[in-house]
Amino acid sequence: MDWGMANRLSQLIQKDGHALFMPVDHGYFQGPTTKLEKPREVIEPLLPYSDALFITRGVLRHCVDPDNTKPIILRVSGGASMVGKDLANEGLATSMEEAIRLNASAVGISVFVGSDYEKESLLNLAKLVDEGERYGIPVMAVTAVGKELDKRDARYLALASRIAAELGARVVKTYWCKGFEKVVQGCPVPVVMAGGPVTETELEVLDFVYDGMQKGAIGVNLGRNVWKNNYPVAMIKAIRAIIHDNSTPKQALEIYQTEKGNG
Ligand code: 5RP
Repeated sequence: MDWGMANRLSQLIQKDGHALFMPVDHGYFQGPTTKLEKPREVIEPLLPYSDALFITRGVLRHCVDPDNTKPIILRVSGGASMVGKDLANEGLATSMEEAIRLNASAVGISVFVGSDYEKESLLNLAKLVDEGERYGIPVMAVTAVGKELDKRDARYLALASRIAAELGARVVKTYWCKGFEKVVQGCPVPVVMAGGPVTETELEVLDFVYDGMQKGAIGVNLGRNVWKNNYPVAMIKAIRAIIHDNSTPKQALEIYQTEKGNG
């Protein structure tokens, strides 16, 4: 692996082999989604506990100061919205030149396996990988399901993750699911877990993050269950303890409860 690619990946994946990415990219198709209306206010307190930010160029330029030293994973797919016909109908919305200008450590793109736009999204990934490899910029593929949340079972996620890796993604972001080991074992590149919609209790998130880590995920790219929580800093600290300190869900919940009391 060339030095630039290796260097960028080592900024993203920490020395223990694990990673906590903080996604705040949801507005690219959801608009000012609840609790992310003012990205700067969400991002600033979470940054110290994040290993990287997953973010669009617009929010990066306007809501993150350029003296930021946390690695940036630039969301580069887009072109669809919650109110449009099909969330899967995305294209490449940001060029590799722009990613380089913004000093991105990686770029991220959604793929919609099984959708009407499967071929387009997979070929977008392949094209992005060609460009990323040329400049030493890793591509994170997001196995997206649009509004079809029921798709998130091991069979589908293993298929989508493997295809993304085969097309050259250096990291795959997918959902945790029952039988998650099938997803990780079938995917030859590091896997990070998204959080999905807000769960009923904090423990549910901590439980699945822990389970996913035991089954081989390298970490998370988990947003809503952190920044929609009433105590986002407490929540990220709890998740971080599982990712980087090997805490159990019970220990992590104790961290959440203690930190919650601190503000
Ligand atoms: C949204 C994304 C998010 O980065 C991803 O879904 C992770 O966020 P969450 O934990 O909120 O699901 O790709 O476009």
